[in-house]
Amino acid sequence: MATELDPQIVERLRGVMEPDFRASIVDLRMITHASSSRNKAQVEIATLAPLPEYSKELEGLVVDALKGDYKEVKVRVQPGTPSVLEEIAEALVAIEGTAAAAARLERKPPFSAGSSPTRVIGISSGKGGVGKSSVTVNLAVSLAKMGYEVGLLDADVYGFSIPAMLGIERKPQLIGNLMVPPVGYGVKVMSVGFFVSDDTPVIWRGPMLHKTLEQFIVDVFWGKLDYLLIDMPPGTGDVALSLGEYLPKSEVFVVTTPQLAAERVAQRSALAARKLKLPVRGVIENMSYFVGDDQKKYEIFGSGGGEALAESLAVPLVGKIPLSVTLREGGDTGVPENSGQGTKEFNELAQRIVDMGPARRYRSELKIN
Ligand SMILES: Nc1ncnc2c1ncn2[C@@H]1O[C@H](COP(=O)(O)OP(=O)(O)OP(=O)(O)O)[C@@H](O)[C@H]1O
Ligand SMILES: [Mg+2]
Repeated sequence: MATELDPQIVERLRGVMEPDFRASIVDLRMITHASSSRNKAQVEIATLAPLPEYSKELEGLVVDALKGDYKEVKVRVQPGTPSVLEEIAEALVAIEGTAAAAARLERKPPFSAGSSPTRVIGISSGKGGVGKSSVTVNLAVSLAKMGYEVGLLDADVYGFSIPAMLGIERKPQLIGNLMVPPVGYGVKVMSVGFFVSDDTPVIWRGPMLHKTLEQFIVDVFWGKLDYLLIDMPPGTGDVALSLGEYLPKSEVFVVTTPQLAAERVAQRSALAARKLKLPVRGVIENMSYFVGDDQKKYEIFGSGGGEALAESLAVPLVGKIPLSVTLREGGDTGVPENSGQGTKEFNELAQRIVDMGPARRYRSELKIN
């Protein structure tokens, strides 16, 4: 079905990355036509259901890649025929690697194998409103800026907030059974928020929830991630149980605020993680202080909560994030923190988590005396 493709154009387009898959459009076999005559290039690209802004983005990338060599570049982005889409799906699986593809067929989560290079990190707390989602988003963006491949799973199915915080308006693309997560600020995102409208309350119960999380882990084309961050819902309910089952390799970081009362609640979530046998790696204190115009640090919410929790869990306090007006505004407008107060602390937090390396796995049957 593939027509002859002009090899020079194909070579030029090799560097064009599909915005969601983040793989070369050549490797993805998305180019259905490429020809040139008298300094004019014509390219046709097949996608799933091209939304206007998506098509524009892709067209722009193709034009940029070719305009140095051709006086005129015509690009058409259009829905692929079923057989073309099948080829794209096959190409995706090839890029993902055979181990991940095989795991998917058996409905095994792609990150559960001991050999998986992906660090799965749950961000948790016993109490709502302490800034879990803000911390997860900004940490993800910091890691992506450092050059890591980062995914973010919004597991807060009742109170999803991640798509809005990252300004993502595009829905996941569906290719067969595969969902391709949209990308914001370099972070691949999957959330219930993409599938329900804002005013519909999500009232799923255990089994449905479990199934949804399974799909979000198994049926999503996450690609080769270095980090998968999970914004856990507040409390210690069903979601944590499901994740413990699907992502047994997860590590947990607990977010708390400086008040000691918040610390006690956060501890509950840490203990729940322990029950699931997920290693709690550290505590992140959020809203730790406010730096005034006088450059003084004001501990508005008190102090000591993070240290106390870290000590009682015998894990390090890995970060103290200040109160930040830009962070709060960014959360509302979909522009995550990357210049204002808190940026430096998030970058340092990301670096510390990277430096810690993955959790060591202890198998209880392998006791060394
Ligand atoms: N360091 C910070 N400085 C200023 N505002 C912050 C900070 N961290 C969080 N916020 C603000 O506090 C509010 C709650 O934060 P966020 O939604 O991240 O908390 P959460 O723990 O995920 O809440 P929920 O339990 O509802 O999911 C938001 O308006 C957010 O912008
Ligand atoms: Mg939240």
